[in-house]
Amino acid sequence: MLDEHLIRTINKLQDALAPLGGGSTSPIDLPQITVVGSQSSGKSSVLENIVGREFLPRGSGIVTRRPLILQLINRRDHLDNHLTPEEKATIKPTLSDGRPSEDSDQEWGEFLHLPGRRFFCFDNIRKEIVRATDATAGSNAGISSVPINLRVYSPHVLTLTLVDLPGLTKVPVGDQPKNIEKLIRDLVLKFISRPNAILLAVNAANQDLANSDGLKLAREVDPEGIRTIGVLTKVDLMDEGTDVVDILAGRVIPLRCGYVPVVNRSQKDIEHHKSIRSALDDERNFFENHAAYSSKAQYCGTPYLAKKLSNILMNHIRATLPDIKLRIETALKKYQQELDALGPEMAESPSSIVLNVITDFCNQYSGIIDGQTKDVSTNEL
Ligand code: GDP
Ligand code: NA
Ligand code: MG
Repeated sequence: MLDEHLIRTINKLQDALAPLGGGSTSPIDLPQITVVGSQSSGKSSVLENIVGREFLPRGSGIVTRRPLILQLINRRDHLDNHLTPEEKATIKPTLSDGRPSEDSDQEWGEFLHLPGRRFFCFDNIRKEIVRATDATAGSNAGISSVPINLRVYSPHVLTLTLVDLPGLTKVPVGDQPKNIEKLIRDLVLKFISRPNAILLAVNAANQDLANSDGLKLAREVDPEGIRTIGVLTKVDLMDEGTDVVDILAGRVIPLRCGYVPVVNRSQKDIEHHKSIRSALDDERNFFENHAAYSSKAQYCGTPYLAKKLSNILMNHIRATLPDIKLRIETALKKYQQELDALGPEMAESPSSIVLNVITDFCNQYSGIIDGQTKDVSTNEL
């Protein structure tokens, strides 16, 4: 759902900067997209639509009961640039669920708690999320603050992290302790307080915005509203004659980054296995043919939300570049000093190899900066 040009640009940058990062953490440190909102407001549905893949458990009542840290990893870059030919050969699919072995479009998920096991079937990813949730949080509505870490490798995604969280509730159900409200609140706060979290404050349009727990909590950690996007779900379920036009116009609770109204799949749609693609078609038709929204349909729906997110990510990259450049120059200076200290007779030492790598990298990097900053500043900002 995110813009293809953005995906290419950021993947290229992340790839070129990978030598600085050490391990899996990216030196660009892209913002994490995090949801906050009441239970069943549609948080998991919104995230799933942004990713464009179906694998998150959704439904009425408390479904998301552990944080899910979802790392999307662009697989084409991963294959081409980070693996030796021998490693690439080992990636040949194991065909556990019948995909052709040369399918370059192949996508799979891997859980941190099940290293080395590839899930090619997204239904099975969902089942494993449910299983891992029950295993840690019990099967009777309990919650756990221990995150599930899932990586999804795909040629169609941006290397980016999304966080799905349990919804805010008030009354304990099942095995939940009396202080469930505070437990969930503290859990959610832990994630949304991070300065690099972009908050999707999700509120069902058929609920009063003034009662929105998500918005309230978002305001606590982001009072200026610089990293909060309002998302209004269930616009299709509003009472006839009511709409979200006043909210969109900023006349109810203004948000600096504004609100995006969306229509996700209903429970019935989920049960009938409605695809994301046809859900997106229906969403577009809904807004284009609705008297209150037809004149502003381009500012409604999941594609517009994805565009808003893309712009925020682009701005973030642009703001981060000077810092990255400084880090590279500092690293280069440090290695140069180390090398000088070794003296000429050590010219073939491992350190000189390191220096060569870094020099190469910096050359490559300056090309990317020169090319891409222009890209970034002229494209859709
Ligand atoms: P979460 O608890 O906030 O993660 O919410 P879910 O994504 O699990 O959704 C809760 C329920 O609301 C599910 O049954 C969804 O099918 C339904 N739902 C979510 N968004 C919409 C929407 O925009 N329209 C309709 N009709 N149903 C929705
Ligand atoms: Na729910
Ligand atoms: Mg959920």
